[in-house]
Amino acid sequence: MVNHAEIDEETVAALIATARQARAQAYAPYSRFAVGAALLAADGTMIAGCNVENVSYPLGLCAERAAVAAAVVGGHRRFRAIAVVGGDGPLSPCGGCRQVLREFGDLWVIGGSAAGTALERWRLSELLPAAFGRERGE
Ligand code: THU
Repeated sequence: MVNHAEIDEETVAALIATARQARAQAYAPYSRFAVGAALLAADGTMIAGCNVENVSYPLGLCAERAAVAAAVVGGHRRFRAIAVVGGDGPLSPCGGCRQVLREFGDLWVIGGSAAGTALERWRLSELLPAAFGRERGE
């Protein structure tokens, strides 16, 4: 697993700003709960995602998973952090997204709101302890 240094405040602010821009693109006509996410790749690139719902409700895609898919297709597989914003926040990723993120290491997870200043930070290993990971599955 990648060793994750703390994320500096300027980078946190940039991640939150990117996640908020992504949130503005959310397609959430059913829940009306718009979410934006921004992944920080190991090389400093930020990759955005938003939730994409579907009339067949269970097929809806969370913002975090949209960001992961966009990142991987862009050639990124090593990540330091993800910021997620929505609602009154601080938002924290759903269980399914925690598992998807876990595939790529013990990221910092930064939860924020749609517009407020409150943030929470966790390590993914705090949010998903004793996870089923590649080292257990192989
Ligand atoms: N959602 C996300 O995209 N990420 C989260 O962390 C929480 C929930 C989406 C799924 C659904 O489109 C909407 O928010 C309401 O649950």
